Amino acid sequence: MDIDVFLTSQGVSEEDVRGRTVVIIDVLRASSTILTALHHGARAVIPVPDMEEAGRIASNMDPSVYLLGGERKGDRIDGYHLGNSPLEYTEEQVTGKTIILNTTNGTVAIGRAEGAAYLTVGSFLNASAVVDFIREKEKDATLICAGHQQRASLEDTLCAGLLLDKLWNGERRGGISDTAHIAHTQYVQDVNTLQHTLRSGAHARALQSKGYEADVEYAVQQDSVPLVPDYIDNRLVAPPRASGGK
Ligand code: MLT
Repeated sequence: MDIDVFLTSQGVSEEDVRGRTVVIIDVLRASSTILTALHHGARAVIPVPDMEEAGRIASNMDPSVYLLGGERKGDRIDGYHLGNSPLEYTEEQVTGKTIILNTTNGTVAIGRAEGAAYLTVGSFLNASAVVDFIREKEKDATLICAGHQQRASLEDTLCAGLLLDKLWNGERRGGISDTAHIAHTQYVQDVNTLQHTLRSGAHARALQSKGYEADVEYAVQQDSVPLVPDYIDNRLVAPPRASGGK
């Protein structure tokens, strides 16, 4: 199985994802928020690239069934029900609701990969489950890091490195791409200080300085939300076996 990595989503083309299993990694915070919303019983998360699209979708829905979520510069968008803090997506808030989610990088990255054979989101919260998902699909895979401010980010790169390490059982195979090499090498270098390193990245520091340190602490936990959403009809849904009948 070939596994490629994009350190940001900017250069991703249709050809890069066609026929492949694609995992969008936005540890801080879109992937972690989507996983939490579905884990807490949201009916679906519809990722959208901008406010216009969010408004268009909302205008065709009954207001009692959806919540608008998302951020700009880390803070909740004016007029939206929720921001992009995973901790806001409690059972009380989201059970039975469809979330229309609009974030700076994460939901844009998902849109760029819509043509994948299988599309999902990954973060530290579901790392082992995502690796099982990739193996089960038996297709070549692409890990797309959302990054931060159009640049590679430490937390997404390290998460990609962790997934590669698990997929390869710690043993690097030959013929890998430069970006897979970079992500895995960085992960191996930082593995013993991973928690500290994750908290020291630019995006983590930006969130901490805005009072979102609890989001960072939450998002760096490994395997605490073992759910892998399916992307069907432009929305992410919990797989039947993990939805627990919610
Ligand atoms: C994004 O999609 O750019 C992020 O999830 C931003 C954030 O909420 O920190």
